[in-house]
Amino acid sequence: MTATQAEPLWIAVAGKGGAGKSTVSGTLSRALGRLGHDVVAMDSDTMPGMCRSLGIAEPSGTRLMEAIEPADERRWRLRKGVGPVRTVQRCTTPAPDGVRLLQLGKVDADTDVAAFTGAALAFHEIVGKLGESRTARRWTLIGDLPAGPRHLAAGFASYARGALVVVEPTSQSVLAARRCARLAREHMGRPAWYVANKVRDDAGRRRLVRMLGEEPVAWIPHDPVVAAAERDGLAAITAAAGSPAVATIERLAADLDQRRLAGL
Ligand SMILES: Nc1ncnc2c1ncn2[C@@H]1O[C@H](COP(=O)(O)OP(=O)(O)OP(=O)(O)O)[C@@H](O)[C@H]1O
Ligand SMILES: [Mg+2]
Repeated sequence: MTATQAEPLWIAVAGKGGAGKSTVSGTLSRALGRLGHDVVAMDSDTMPGMCRSLGIAEPSGTRLMEAIEPADERRWRLRKGVGPVRTVQRCTTPAPDGVRLLQLGKVDADTDVAAFTGAALAFHEIVGKLGESRTARRWTLIGDLPAGPRHLAAGFASYARGALVVVEPTSQSVLAARRCARLAREHMGRPAWYVANKVRDDAGRRRLVRMLGEEPVAWIPHDPVVAAAERDGLAAITAAAGSPAVATIERLAADLDQRRLAGL
């Protein structure tokens, strides 16, 4: 199983706003948890999305704030003696299938800018140092990035060994996805794989391959049951269990587990 292999499975999930990043990353985290991975799900979006797709209530405030303290009037730092591993152990929220959620967003911070900046810096600090830790190397990290390519360039995904880029069959979604993939490959030097989402028919498939210039590693169909689960605030992996979309994400989890994606 992956947990005993040398290279940890640390994946960032990127893509345009609304493409399905949170649906994919949350469902993937749960599916990998079921395969025996010790998953830390990392939501670095200020608008939390992963808690819903994981199937837990929104953490009240970010527990990450427990790990940091003000350094001076403008800056924050990790508390003395608090390293990235302890932060994950202390400041995550438990979710089903053994997944733990590290939530950056939703500090009281939409109003408290200093606290938000602090949490963002702490997040950077934590994820940047995870690679040094033997304990963390036994974890599987699945990160839900904020929309668009910018955060790949800005260090929010410095932990990632590879990027899954979620893309819908629309030109805007493809434009953002291609930028995300290019940043992961050229700027970070990591493999990137496209995950097609909300695909309705063969024409959509063909259009997507033509616009991307390559074949996605997974094709998630448009699935009204998944959309309904989200509307009801339920995790797709339970509310839409057995649906074609969830089954596709479960297969993707098995592919990651078995290291079947090129470059992984
Ligand atoms: N395969 C699918 N079939 C139908 N609806 C889907 C599918 N995947 C995602 N959705 C719906 O699309 C919407 C956006 O999904 P999601 O929140 O996962 O996207 P996101 O990329 O995380 O968005 P944001 O950029 O706002 O964080 C949600 O309402 C979700 O239920
Ligand atoms: Mg989201």
